[in-house]
Order: sequence, then C-alpha cells, then structure tokens
Amino acid sequence: MENTFHQNTQILGLIGHPIKQSYSPFIQNVSFTLLDMDYIYLPFDVPQSNLRNALKGMLALGIKGFNVTIPHKESLVSFLSTVSEEAGIVGSVNTVVNDMGRLIGYNTDVHGVYETLAPYKDEIAGNEVSVIGAGGAARAVIYSLIRHFKPSSINIINRTEQRAESLKNYFSTKMKFGNFRTFELFPPDLISLLQSSKVIINATSVGMFPDIEDSVINLPSAFTKGQIVFDMVYNPPKTTLLKIAEAEGAIILNGINMLVHQAAKAFELWTNKQMPIDEIRNSLIQYIAE
Ligand code: ATR
Repeated sequence: MENTFHQNTQILGLIGHPIKQSYSPFIQNVSFTLLDMDYIYLPFDVPQSNLRNALKGMLALGIKGFNVTIPHKESLVSFLSTVSEEAGIVGSVNTVVNDMGRLIGYNTDVHGVYETLAPYKDEIAGNEVSVIGAGGAARAVIYSLIRHFKPSSINIINRTEQRAESLKNYFSTKMKFGNFRTFELFPPDLISLLQSSKVIINATSVGMFPDIEDSVINLPSAFTKGQIVFDMVYNPPKTTLLKIAEAEGAIILNGINMLVHQAAKAFELWTNKQMPIDEIRNSLIQYIAE
C-alpha cells in the first residue's frame, strides 16, 4: 500500500460537536484526489468547553483552515481576528482561514445560495420571495437575497413567528431593506401568499433524512407553474416538498447544489483553486444514494 501523506501535506478540517454525518470530508478529499493536491480534510469533534484550546492548537499545528458546524458557528466569531462582511452581518461563520497565524472567518453558505439562485436572477428581481425558517440558514438566504437579487419584498414564514419578527427587525436595520412581512407557519390563508411568490425557499430542516415523508408545505395548491422552489435540505436530493412543487409545474432547486457551492467557496479560500464542481456534484449524488 502507498503512503500518500508526506511532511508537506496540508491539513484542513471540520469542527463541531457532536460531529454528525457530514459530507464535507467526502467533498473536500475527493476534490484533492481529483486535482492531485497534497491536502487532507479531517473531522474534529470539539465540545464548546474546548473551543478556545482547539483553535490555539490549530494555530500551533499550522492547520490551513477549517469548516465550522453546530454548535460553534456563532460562538466562534469572538475568537477570530476578523470576519468577512457577509459573516459579520449573517452573524455566523462556517469557514475559517489561517492566514499566517490570523484566523479569518467567512460564511460561504451565502455564496452557495447565490450560486444556486444566480441562473434566475432576472426572474427574482422585482418579485416577491417567501423564506420559510428563521434560523442560521434563513439568515444566509436573506443576506444573499438582499445583497444580490433585488426582490421587491421578502416574506419570512416561521413556526415561531417571533423569531421571524426578530430577523425582520435585524435585517431592516443592518441592510436597510424595508419590505419584509412575517407570518406564522402555517395558517391556510398563507396559500395565496405562497402562490403569489415568485420564489419559495425552505430554510428549515423539515424533510431531511430520516423524516423524508415530511414537508414544510404539503398543500399542492400553494405552488404554481414556473415558480422557483428551492429546498436547502440536501438529503434526500429530491425532498417531498420538491416532489409536490414539481408536480405543480414549479422549477425545483435542491440543496445539493448549495452544499457543493458553499464547499467550493471554502476550497477556493483555502487553496486558491477551483473545485471541479460538476464531478463533485455527480460523485456526491452517487455517494448519498449508496
Ligand atoms: P439552521 O442553522 O439550520 O437554520 P436553526 O437555527 O436551529 O438551524 O433553525 C431551524 C429552523 O427550522 C427554525 O426556523 C425552526 O423553527 P423555529 O424557529 O420555530 O424553531 C425551523 N424548524 C425546525 N423544525 C421544524 C418543524 N418541525 N416545523 C417547522 N419548522 C421547523
């Protein structure tokens, strides 16, 4: 057997707690293999109590960078030298670069959202968008919508309406966007609101494996022909929500594209190289299906 790691092998990783099944090691390590790069990406299980020590250790070991997942995406910010504009406004970091001993935080989910919706930029501009959810994923979506897509208005629909209201207030102030409405999920009178939305985005985890029969909207009449429906859930690639929307003639966008693009942006920040996106997307779909 050949040893493929050497004294110059660069180490990247993922920190979180608990480290649940993540596709990031697959995406990054397959990219390194395809591009014949001397890197390795490893998961590190780091509880909150060890976060500061883990970051010190990473600096001491010269680890090039890492992704960040639950529960550190927000608390990590205070340990970093600086954060990018989008990470600062979204209030969470999912990618850190070790820039010669300075830890710099980014939020590449924003880029993943941008790349997923970019082919529909003209359709989104001047139209109404409905975002379901009010957590971290919704914050990345709302930032990306306001920064890049110029929607006429954004509806934030959430199980806990008060969280939707907080997001509205936060983004109204931070990004000077005034056209928000908030709603509780899911009184029947939201049907007409959803029908009139050019884009509907699920930024909750409802429908994710193993609860694949669940859907945050299960009324087919909420969807219309030509509407754009984006589900950030990536496993399964075609969620129940997307199946219902597709049957009504909507254009459906799954979370795989978003997942690969946010990983590709992190890859670029660490290595200055482009991830082979199409090959990785295809390999990932196969890997998830196994
Ligand atoms: P993330 O960072 O992935 O967005 P989060 O901050 O925990 O995670 O937010 C999860 C979002 O999914 C929230 O909007 C949550 O609704 P609440 O604010 O009411 O908690 C939503 N969510 C999770 N499970 C849900 C369910 N079964 N039905 C409806 N919404 C759900």
